[in-house]
Formats: sequence, C-alpha cells, structure tokens
Amino acid sequence: MNKTAVITGAASGIGRAASRRLLDAGWTVFGLDVAQARLDAVAGEFAAYQGRFRPVRCDVSDAADVAAVFAGLNTPLNALVCCAGVLRTALMEDMSIEDFDLVLNINTRGTFLCAQKALPLLRQAATAENPSRVVLLSSLAATRPKVVSGAYAASKAAVTQLCRVMAAEWAPSGVLVNALAPGTVDTPMVHAMADPSQSKGYRPSGVSPVGRIAQPEDVVDVMMFLLSDAARYVAGATIPVDGGTGAAFIPPGSNR
Ligand SMILES: NC(=O)c1ccc[n+]([C@@H]2O[C@H](COP(=O)([O-])OP(=O)(O)OC[C@H]3O[C@@H](n4cnc5c(N)ncnc54)[C@H](O)[C@@H]3O)[C@@H](O)[C@H]2O)c1
Repeated sequence: MNKTAVITGAASGIGRAASRRLLDAGWTVFGLDVAQARLDAVAGEFAAYQGRFRPVRCDVSDAADVAAVFAGLNTPLNALVCCAGVLRTALMEDMSIEDFDLVLNINTRGTFLCAQKALPLLRQAATAENPSRVVLLSSLAATRPKVVSGAYAASKAAVTQLCRVMAAEWAPSGVLVNALAPGTVDTPMVHAMADPSQSKGYRPSGVSPVGRIAQPEDVVDVMMFLLSDAARYVAGATIPVDGGTGAAFIPPGSNR
C-alpha cells in the first residue's frame, strides 16, 4: 500500500496522532503546521519512518502560503485531514476583533483554503474503487456551543456546513468529504485552558458519559474508518466522537 495524505496541524494533538497512525499504516504524510519548532520536534519523533513524514511549514489561513505549498507537493493525494485549529475564549462583549478574526481565519477559512487547493490532487488519486477522502475537524461546539467560546463555535458550525456542501459537490468526482465532531480531547489545546489568563472562564465539556475524556487516538480511530473502504458510501457526515456528551443535557447536580 502506497498512499499519500496531507495532515494540517500535524505538530500537535490530534494531527500528530493522526500522522503517526497513517505512518504506521504505511502512508506517506505531508505534515503541515505553522509552528516550525514543534514541527521539527515531531519530524524528529517520526525519523524512524524512513522519510515518509514530510514536514512543511504552512499557515493555513494564508491563501498565498497554502497555494504555494499545495502547488509544490507534486503528487496525487489519497487524503486530506484538516486538524489545524485554534481556540480563543472571551465573552462576546469582550472578544477582541483580532481574536475573532484569528479563530475564523484559521478554523474556517484555513479549512476551505486547504480543501480547495488539495482538490485537484485528490481527484488525481481517486478511482472508482478507491475514492479519495477529506476529513475535517468540526467539534461538538458546532451543535452545542458554550459561553465564552462563541467565535470557536461559529467557526466549527461553518466547518460542518462546508463539509456538507463540499461532499455534495465533490463526490461525483470521487472525493468523499466528511467531518469529525469531538467533545473534549486530551491535547495541548485543552491543556492551555487550565491557565485562567487564557481560559477567561471557559470550561471544557470534560468527562463524557463514557466516564473519561477522549484521547487523540479515540478520534483517530474514527478518522481511520472514514479513510477506509468501509466508509466508501459515507459523504457529508459530521460524526460525533464525544462519548455521548452531546447526546442529552445533563442538568447541573444530576448524579448521572
Ligand atoms: N482538543 C479538543 O478538545 C478538540 C475538540 C473538538 C475539536 N477539536 C479540533 O481538533 C483540531 C485539532 O485540535 P487539537 O486539540 O489537536 O489542538 P492542538 O492545539 O494540540 O493542535 C493544533 C495544531 O494546529 C496548528 N495550527 C494552529 N494554527 C495554524 C495555522 N494558522 N496554520 C497551520 N497550523 C496551525 C498548531 O500549531 C497545532 O500544532 C482543531 O481543529 C480543534 O479545533 C479539538
């Protein structure tokens, strides 16, 4: 098996775990991230994969950067996984315009830019038997937004809607687009919220009805399903990976 993927946000959290899983499965992975030092460190971790991890510095919110990176890949792509994302928190009345723009530009615009520029390469690799895949990272926040994270919730609701429309537009040419909607996942994005100066009162959803928070691998398992032949007829779906957190409201003080 000789498949190739681009994973954005590959230097941390879910993107890093996704990269490792695909490398283990024999894929070549172009790992895109804006954080050069962390990307270098991850490339060092993945050195044993005989050069199949290709780190590429890219700011997904920068149209010129994204266009140059995808033009330079020069290879058909079997998959694009868009993990690059940021969380900035504030009450809507306090949120700076800079932070609002940052969240929307990276989470929504960046997802759109990467998917649009990857499309010709995904179409090149697609066959009737093996459609190419796009997996976007939405969030439970898209359907169950929380106070102090309105911009983030809006950015992820937009990702879910982009997913649905791209899926309908691109499935006829052999590119299946889907998204994942995790609840709280144990990654640096959530760890940063332990610092009150960053969280500004934001509370992660925390432990799910399953009894723990997710590890990145819990999300990557469902991503692998979406990349597999078993998902050959799945398009336009946003699959919750939240241990049931979004399934029902648990009233404060309930012991369930
Ligand atoms: N951790 C959670 O609880 C959770 C829950 C639901 C959805 N998600 C989503 O999953 C995705 C991955 O999140 P994570 O928890 O692994 O976060 P993370 O902070 O661990 O990793 C995100 C990565 O994206 C990179 N990035 C940020 N801005 C970028 C840019 N402009 N260009 C390129 N790369 C950029 C960061 O450098 C980082 O390496 C995000 O889209 C996030 O919104 C996370």
